[in-house]
Amino acid sequence: MARVEYQVETAQSSISVRAHTGVEKELIGHVDGFTTINGSISLNNLWVDEGRRRQGIGTEMLKRVKDWGEEIGARSIIAPFSPDPNVDPEGVIAFYNQNGIIID
Ligand SMILES: CC(C)(COP(=O)(O)OP(=O)(O)OC[C@H]1O[C@@H](n2cnc3c(N)ncnc32)[C@H](O)[C@@H]1OP(=O)(O)O)[C@@H](O)C(=O)NCCC(=O)NCCS
Repeated sequence: MARVEYQVETAQSSISVRAHTGVEKELIGHVDGFTTINGSISLNNLWVDEGRRRQGIGTEMLKRVKDWGEEIGARSIIAPFSPDPNVDPEGVIAFYNQNGIIID
């Protein structure tokens, strides 16, 4: 698999993770997160390029969100359930379960 680079940007109450191909810098995945009033991190806009799914990119992006969560003492990571209508929702549920994400 071609090299994937992960770019993380954090602000006081938000994080943005982008996955790019190493050479062309093509965007192949992203996820945003923000802290909630209850001390969790809520995910937004989770997406991996269709041709690059099941290669661990979503998990790697989530790992960066979890690292930030540990730094700021977040108690959980939650996500609204709004899968892309073109994907099998069971796959998204499996991904969330695999990564310890609570469906909100
Ligand atoms: C959800 C999404 C971000 C997952 O990204 P990904 O890079 O493919 O996920 P990973 O490769 O890290 O998957 C990790 C594990 O999650 C589970 N999983 C992921 N996609 C799955 C699928 N379609 N079916 C079953 N299990 C799946 C598997 O256990 C997988 O491990 P494995 O491949 O070793 O079996 C991607 O499918 C996507 O962009 N979907 C469309 C957008 C969307 O619906 N986003 C969610 C909004 S609620």
